[in-house]
Amino acid sequence: MTDDDTLVPTGYVDNLFDLAGRVAIVTGAASGLGAAIATGFGQLGVHVILADIDTAGAQRVCRTINASGGTGETLALNVTDKKQCDSAAKEIRHQLGHIDILVNSAGSAHRSPAEDFPEAQFDRIIELNLKGTYIPCQSFGTVMLEQGRGNIINMGSIGSYVAYPWASAYLASKGGVLQLTRALALEWRDRGVRVNAIGPTLMESPLTTNARHSTSVTSDFIEQRMIRPRLGLPRELIGAAVFLASDASQLVTGHMLMCDDGYLSA
Ligand SMILES: NC(=O)c1ccc[n+]([C@@H]2O[C@H](COP(=O)([O-])OP(=O)(O)OC[C@H]3O[C@@H](n4cnc5c(N)ncnc54)[C@H](O)[C@@H]3O)[C@@H](O)[C@H]2O)c1
Repeated sequence: MTDDDTLVPTGYVDNLFDLAGRVAIVTGAASGLGAAIATGFGQLGVHVILADIDTAGAQRVCRTINASGGTGETLALNVTDKKQCDSAAKEIRHQLGHIDILVNSAGSAHRSPAEDFPEAQFDRIIELNLKGTYIPCQSFGTVMLEQGRGNIINMGSIGSYVAYPWASAYLASKGGVLQLTRALALEWRDRGVRVNAIGPTLMESPLTTNARHSTSVTSDFIEQRMIRPRLGLPRELIGAAVFLASDASQLVTGHMLMCDDGYLSA
């Protein structure tokens, strides 16, 4: 072996981003960012399990994946239900033999001034965004720990770091997702399971559009502070997801990869 081979063995980079044959569960895959990441994985030969409470939506995305040569299947799953997540994890391991990637993209938002924020909405957002990230990490992460390998990608936000108006529950949940990502990464880092997150800017997705119908206070505040006045496209997160899911990021854990078009640098 030459010195050059030791530094970077011949062919080393060929498989660096290779995800073919891996099994990924993507929550919230019926819509928006989860749908785009699931579709991107499908194009790379990942077997994608599209997990959502919206089964019709998940089936629509799944059909697109299968029609373009990928392999996907849908899973009716409520991410806040531990029993459902535990039994899905067991079943998938039994059926497919391994679980390599978990993307936690199920989430929601509610916009309201803090002093009037409805308690029920606060509970719903924390339950879905924070607990609905934690529980799949536990259920599918347990299988990964048994395997001694796996990659988890949580969905953070610029709101994991900075505030904007009328989003107090959402911001609390996304700050929580950042710390949850670090906590699990620390506990599992010597057991082959990496836990990272993606931190998107404001994106073109049904979540943003629906929230705009009730008020544009939050979006206007964010858009006025953007370096370039444009929302991100869901497909623009696929590269980050592939990086974090692949061996290319093997030294990366406990990290939130900002896909924010420089928002936090301003
Ligand atoms: N859209 C943005 O601007 C933006 C920016 C930063 C971060 N995010 C985060 O990205 C994630 C995805 O957002 P999106 O824009 O794709 O939203 P979206 O509304 O388009 O999709 C969310 C999906 O989650 C599913 N879901 C809701 N509750 C569920 C449950 N209990 N169990 C399983 N699935 C459930 C919905 O059915 C839907 O398919 C969220 O965590 C969101 O906070 C979004």
